[in-house]
Amino acid sequence: MIRADLVLTGISELATPTGSEARIGADLGRLNVIPDAALASEGDRIVFVGTERDLARAVELKPGGVTLDAAGGTVLPGFVDAHTHLPFAGWREQEFDERLRGATYSEIAARGGGILSTVKRTRAATLDELAELVRERLDGMVALGTTTVEAKSGYGLSYTEELKQLAALRDAAVDHPMRVVSTFLGAHTIPVEYRERREEYVRLLIERMIPEVARQRLATFADAFVDAHAYSIDEARRVLTAAKEHGLGVRLHADQLADDGAALLAAELGAASADHLEYASPEGIEALARAGTCGVLLPAATFFLMMDVKPPGRKLVDAGIPVVVATDFNPGSCPTESMSAAIWFASLTARLSVDEAITASTLNAAHSLGLGDQVGSLEAGKRADVVVHDVPNRYHLVYRFGVPRVSMVIAGGELVHQSRPAQV
Ligand code: NIG
Ligand code: FE
Repeated sequence: MIRADLVLTGISELATPTGSEARIGADLGRLNVIPDAALASEGDRIVFVGTERDLARAVELKPGGVTLDAAGGTVLPGFVDAHTHLPFAGWREQEFDERLRGATYSEIAARGGGILSTVKRTRAATLDELAELVRERLDGMVALGTTTVEAKSGYGLSYTEELKQLAALRDAAVDHPMRVVSTFLGAHTIPVEYRERREEYVRLLIERMIPEVARQRLATFADAFVDAHAYSIDEARRVLTAAKEHGLGVRLHADQLADDGAALLAAELGAASADHLEYASPEGIEALARAGTCGVLLPAATFFLMMDVKPPGRKLVDAGIPVVVATDFNPGSCPTESMSAAIWFASLTARLSVDEAITASTLNAAHSLGLGDQVGSLEAGKRADVVVHDVPNRYHLVYRFGVPRVSMVIAGGELVHQSRPAQV
């Protein structure tokens, strides 16, 4: 008999991708779907996934163990949000209102608003204030069913301020049920004080900031924003090559607002992911597929920026790229931390099927963070990050869009959130 200290029953449908590798092409939407399912964990690991009938034969609950009732809900792996800009202070609702009146995101950035206005507010916050903001947001994300999150700096844009943002992530993650993966995005935009001497800032990134981030192990990845108002291909190449030399993985904000050739750069660098890709060229997409670089769709951001183009969902899937869906949570281009929202748009605007969107927001996302063997699917041996959605089957997750219906979140084998009493 398998011994367990937590058993989850009453599951109308359990749906999960399987394995630890990214799923591509026709495999993206191939899920293991179990009706009338049950799941058991011991410590922080899953020990059983199967039917409720098999559970009775195979699993023995240890004395003092807990049985939870999913109350007819649908169970999925915890969402893995592989692209957020979490450690920031201050919202930008006024700029949003300006955009509704016709201003564009790029116009606002060009006059010193946008990312730079969040830089001002973030620099003004103390480390403790910022860590508290991050903690509150992590709590909110867990309640929405996210159990692993990638989070980028990029609103500090100086040696001390970038380190402060990464330290805030580190401090907030201590004893938090959320697993946090940090990314250094010192190359988010050019700070105002370096506008006339950008080369000096690029050198600061390469010679001082990246070595220190690596030395203190404050980040697993480095990222850069290639854009007319941010970094050129050549600058991003230099910064990310330095990051690689210091042992950091690479992610890239690529071809979001124009075809800058950034998908090609991501492939050239062997990046873990190229993100956005609304304007990626056919050659760029082909190169990503050859390099095995994940393509991260951020369809809630495409929507929120009211862009004329659609997120390139089918193009990436058809090219054989491991497709990921994430939120892009940040105060400018996507102020929602809801992975449910990300999958609504992944299906309704990027044209992923519900099953494809599930794999893209769990297993493929985990793979893009180097965590495919630990999280992202519900299988014995993986971390027990399990979410109950209060719907009868997975299609309702997108079909009844507009309302996240998470009723229970288990992270590392612990019940960390529930929207109504469930213990029996
Ligand atoms: O991913 N594109 C650049 N960075 C973010 C937006 C950050 C902001 O507007 O504050 C993005 O969309
Ligand atoms: Fe982003």
